[in-house]
Amino acid sequence: MILKSGVNKSRAWKKLERHCKKMKKLHMRELFEKDNNRASKFSIQLESLLFDYSKNRITEKTMAYLIDLAKSRGLEDKIKAMFSGERINITENRAVLHTALRNRANTPVYVDGENVMVKINEVLAKMRKFSEAVRFGEFKGHTGKKLTNIVNIGIGGSDLGPKMAVEALKKYKAKDINTYFISNIDGTACAEVLNKIDPETTLFIVASKTFTTVETLTNAKTCRKWLVDALGEHAVSKHFVALSTNTQKVKEFGIDPENMFEFWDFVGGRYSMWSAIGLSIAIAVGMDNFEKMLDGAYAMDMHFLHTDFAHNIPVILALLGIWNSNFFGLRSNALVPYDQYLSLIPAYMQQLEMESNGKFVSMGNDFIKYNTGTVLFGGPGTDVQHSFFQMLHQGTTPIPVDFIIPAISHNEIGEHHEILVSNVLAQGEALMRGKTVKEAAAELAAKGKSKEEVNFLKKFKSFPGNNPSNTIVFKKIDPYALGMLVAMYEHKVFVQGVIWDIDSFDQFGVELGKEMATNILPELQGNAAEGRHDSSTSALIGYIRRLRK
Ligand code: F6P
Repeated sequence: MILKSGVNKSRAWKKLERHCKKMKKLHMRELFEKDNNRASKFSIQLESLLFDYSKNRITEKTMAYLIDLAKSRGLEDKIKAMFSGERINITENRAVLHTALRNRANTPVYVDGENVMVKINEVLAKMRKFSEAVRFGEFKGHTGKKLTNIVNIGIGGSDLGPKMAVEALKKYKAKDINTYFISNIDGTACAEVLNKIDPETTLFIVASKTFTTVETLTNAKTCRKWLVDALGEHAVSKHFVALSTNTQKVKEFGIDPENMFEFWDFVGGRYSMWSAIGLSIAIAVGMDNFEKMLDGAYAMDMHFLHTDFAHNIPVILALLGIWNSNFFGLRSNALVPYDQYLSLIPAYMQQLEMESNGKFVSMGNDFIKYNTGTVLFGGPGTDVQHSFFQMLHQGTTPIPVDFIIPAISHNEIGEHHEILVSNVLAQGEALMRGKTVKEAAAELAAKGKSKEEVNFLKKFKSFPGNNPSNTIVFKKIDPYALGMLVAMYEHKVFVQGVIWDIDSFDQFGVELGKEMATNILPELQGNAAEGRHDSSTSALIGYIRRLRK
């Protein structure tokens, strides 16, 4: 039977709760000491990608119970429903088909009887034609110059994906193309980019699914004015393109629909970098590389769709997240890529996870009584070892970590990469093993500390360990590996949403603040009488108005 809500009341959940009580008494050190095969037992390889999840507080029984939980939620059918174009986004009555965007086998996918692959392929072809024309200087600016500054104007999913991917694939970028991203409504974001570029050689890509997002439209208007002031109104068609689902709004903004690259409402914003939203990636690294990224994502899609749960990387990744969060009560996760090119991956995944699964109403329309999405934060290693890692090692609550590391660097200089790799491996081991008070005391004594010093310092120098982590290793960060990695996390988020019984594809939570900002704006500008606010907000409006006079 598939439960519609109240997953925490299910037999599978209760079994896990009882099992967790026993697991809480075990330390991972003991689990490793008892079983030499633990690493191979709890790791999965897909092509060059290795997913090692052995450093979790799990046994074979845990995994069997977690898989039972997934099955009891009807996960298999839900996965098929997503891939086949069913309207699984129930609050917006939409299909969820980012997988169709990278359906490299080109098998038909139907929405309302229409094979969406036809229009997906048309847009991919249009992206290839345009990106190559820009890269090879055939599509020129108004004054005949090559367009070498590409400015993506977008926010959220219309910014984070392209920005992250262009950074991750920097080694593949055309040398003569500079890519910029303007997202924040803060005028500084616009000003800083406009100060660096020349209108004659700049292409603005206005990326907005809805074409109504205030930040994007405000930034786009500012950039349009800047361009028109320099080159005149006729220059717009050579310097502005739009990526959107909303042709009407694109027209109203003053961009010719000929210069628009379409996508569709079955592509969620935070799942959109595979669509026309990826145009800046295609221009920066070339359409062949963009398609290799789609190939990598497709390989992960096929693995997710066709592999039994016990060997299915996204499914296991999701279940471990639920195990740590709902059963051990660990409400945050760190994502730490040990690769400078992946430095923007945590910000990207933050939107993916927190916007998708930060929900409190079930698919059955009830307020949920268990925890759903967790906090995700992170940054590149080794930098973050010198910031938040102290808390991972000696804080009062464990924080599960995903470590990501390529075996080979694009910049093999001296010993840099080996030092980097030794650090990521050491962190995982240290977080798992820890150091007992006894071990700390013995070390201090061996260093010649007095008995008093040893007694005083031994607790400060101890580490609880038993902190869960996953390690994801692949050969090298290339377009294909990036595609695999991102698709892996997308599917993790989907599986968790299914188990928590939430709609992972809407984002109503971003609306209330937006509405209130719309009301506050005229009050701040002195164009409207002050509305009804709490005393704190009223006082802040007054104070800022006085400072701005
Ligand atoms: O923050 C809400 C949100 O709708 C995101 O989901 C989306 O990625 C972002 O705003 C941008 O939306 P749009 O592409 O429609 O401008």
